[in-house]
Amino acid sequence: MLNIAIIGVGTVGSSVANILKDNKEIITARAGRELIPTIGVVNNLNKKRDVSIELTDDINKVLDDDSIDIVVELMGGVDKAYEVVKKALEKGKAVVTANKALLAYHRYELQEFAQDIPFEYEAAVAGGIPIINALREGLTANNIISIKGIMNGTCNYMLTKMINEGVEYNQILKEAQDLGYAEADPTFDVGGFDAAHKLLILGSIAYGIDAKPEEILIEGIQNITSFDIEFAKEFNYSIKLLGIAKRVGDEIELRVHPAFVPNDQMIAKVDGVMNGISVIGDKVGETMYYGPGAGGDATASAVIANIVDIARRGKGSPMLGYEKSFNKNLKLLPKDAIKT
Ligand code: HSE
Repeated sequence: MLNIAIIGVGTVGSSVANILKDNKEIITARAGRELIPTIGVVNNLNKKRDVSIELTDDINKVLDDDSIDIVVELMGGVDKAYEVVKKALEKGKAVVTANKALLAYHRYELQEFAQDIPFEYEAAVAGGIPIINALREGLTANNIISIKGIMNGTCNYMLTKMINEGVEYNQILKEAQDLGYAEADPTFDVGGFDAAHKLLILGSIAYGIDAKPEEILIEGIQNITSFDIEFAKEFNYSIKLLGIAKRVGDEIELRVHPAFVPNDQMIAKVDGVMNGISVIGDKVGETMYYGPGAGGDATASAVIANIVDIARRGKGSPMLGYEKSFNKNLKLLPKDAIKT
């Protein structure tokens, strides 16, 4: 049996607790032991939540409790989450996080700090799509030529409705927020920063490059005009917010920006909250990953995949030191050298 604490019981946290209960039988069978959502940590105990686990507003109740085996960090933000994750690892607790902003700034450092304590984050990129697993496991024989795709469900949901149904920007942003897709501060979505955080995680796994968000080209969807939308419709294009990581010689180009995509391309057909990511490996060729990029149950599905994996393999982080140690000659292409 493993006891799990959930830090941040919002849309995703509630889904994690509920799925662990709803699908208990199959999850126990696959994990080889029972996984118990024991306690949740929240800021506001008075807020009504659709979960039946014990709640506390005292994080130390989790960190000081030796019976908690796995901490699921879903609190968001960077600095406070960094402290919590480090303390949990220090206490020997495995950590699963969906916090892409935290990882965009501190992934290598936390991974190294974790040593042989599991530290996993499948849900941080592309919601329910197992893209990190694909890069690390399925495509491990390949040099990655490029990663390109839609990495933010909120923007894709908004752009789809703006183009297909003519819905107005503010109305559709509010809808994405109501559906639980958007970040607590939706500027992260529409400004392209959330997609950039995810791109940095994928880029670091694929290329061993340790860049920070400030170093890469990021443009959001706020400046898309009605003229752009009319142009796209008239000439049979979609507008997609793309994250692109690409190797050019010994340099890695990382960028996030909206792009016109011809409607006959697969990426153009990725609509609504779905994400779609193409990964080209030098041996496998092009592979494509498609699925829900945001939302409680979809994201929780990826969180639980990490929990089950930890239950199966126990201590030992097979990724320790791995990514940073290869491709030592690769450098980030400076953002002002990128032509969009
Ligand atoms: N706000 C994010 C998105 C949530 O819309 O993609 C999932 O990371």
